[in-house]
Amino acid sequence: MIERRELNSWQAPGYLEAREGRLTVDGVDAAALVDQYGSPLYVFSEKRIVGNTRNLRRAVEGVHTRVKVCYASKANSTMAVLAAVLRAGGDIEVNSGGELFKARTAGFKPEQIVFNGVSKTDDEIRAAIDFGILAINIDSLFELEQVTRAARELGKRANVAIRIVPEIITRSHIGLQTGLLSSKFGLSPSQIDEAFSRALAAPDAINLAGVHIHVGSQTPDLQPFARAFAEMWKFVAGLSKRTGHRIAHINIGGGLPIDYLGETPMAADIGEREREMLSATLDPGEVLRAALDEAAPSGKQELELIEGLTIIFEPGRRIIADTGLLLTSVCNIKERPETGDTWLLTDAGYSLALSMAMYKWYYHLISATRAKESHDTPYKVAGPLCDSGDVYFDLERGARLPNYRLLPQGTGPGDVLALLNTGAYALDQASQYNGRPKPAVVMIRESGEASVVRRAETYEDLVSLDNWVSSQ
Ligand code: LLP
Repeated sequence: MIERRELNSWQAPGYLEAREGRLTVDGVDAAALVDQYGSPLYVFSEKRIVGNTRNLRRAVEGVHTRVKVCYASKANSTMAVLAAVLRAGGDIEVNSGGELFKARTAGFKPEQIVFNGVSKTDDEIRAAIDFGILAINIDSLFELEQVTRAARELGKRANVAIRIVPEIITRSHIGLQTGLLSSKFGLSPSQIDEAFSRALAAPDAINLAGVHIHVGSQTPDLQPFARAFAEMWKFVAGLSKRTGHRIAHINIGGGLPIDYLGETPMAADIGEREREMLSATLDPGEVLRAALDEAAPSGKQELELIEGLTIIFEPGRRIIADTGLLLTSVCNIKERPETGDTWLLTDAGYSLALSMAMYKWYYHLISATRAKESHDTPYKVAGPLCDSGDVYFDLERGARLPNYRLLPQGTGPGDVLALLNTGAYALDQASQYNGRPKPAVVMIRESGEASVVRRAETYEDLVSLDNWVSSQ
């Protein structure tokens, strides 16, 4: 049993702190940002994005000489975020024509881009070939034909990697597992040699550049990464022996976890399995070392082959999750005398943090206006949406989320709360549900200045794309 100890264990020195009783982000008063830019508000730290990208690179570069860190832009594709990752030496993974467009617009070069997706359209494939990206990660034999056709039409060679889906189970949420044969992703092991042969039979259209696996997101253990890498290596080494073809890269995907729980007192109320998943930390260097060990190349040829390979990582969450938070104001308070509960109603619901409803994802909630006070009073907390599922707990009373959130006594309207570690998969999954314009995004620049990197939507934005005939 974990004790309900600790006061401010969420603090990250130099980034998230409680100063003079209030939450600060890179030294900037969070609640004051809400006064200035409105509520709710997404806030990011540029310094932390740059730091996370560089640290990850350094960790894997220490293990293998050729590596690429292709930031999974689906985690957060705000242009200022992409620009910060690029400046920090990151490359990029995209999952749609739109993300490809954003990557290009941000300034990523073709050799920095890999493209995943289970149902790429001809237009998306053409755009990727035309730009000459590092790899289109092929998701089926059908798609390989689709790419071959498009390349011939364009008179260009497409760089491709074959996405393999062996049966690799992780201890993550089932919705976040992608290495299972029951998942919709990739080619089965029994189809890989066929895919290789077809790719090599079309040298005018296809450059067989790599292989790819992504076992899932928030993967808490080393083993699935190591097994995945060894599976790919088996195919790569076999191909080289059989045909002499040397693949240029192995892409081990994303999925490095971040610790969402820290030493928060709420951890005691979350089921053990969930707790282990949410609080995992893995050293990316160790992940790579374990992968290389598991592959166990032997003999001069294999050693040369593996040394010459570029190893690609596609981290999203690990780079961006703990660089951002979502500020929300308490708008209403009510007592439920029959249950003894006090409810706090905020202005941020699942339309701004979808995973909280979809996966019952735990984001630690603290008070930004009373950051130093003891967070010891249980509240039912809920968002503003007209949906009973728009709550900060698990409506079905599962073990994924605690039933109550601990906040300072007396918390109520006028207080600003912060949902921490919401940098990944929140902003990009946000919607205007219930006629709520999406909020502004503020980035604390490395200079320490706060700047609006995406303006808040307006009511006019809610209707600006619609075409209708007024009845008046
Ligand atoms: N590469 C591929 C092929 C992926 O499918 C993903 C994530 C990543 C890389 C990045 O994974 P990461 O390093 O961020 O774990 N909507 C979910 C998250 C879905 C992640 C899908 N794929 C959520 O709300 O948590």
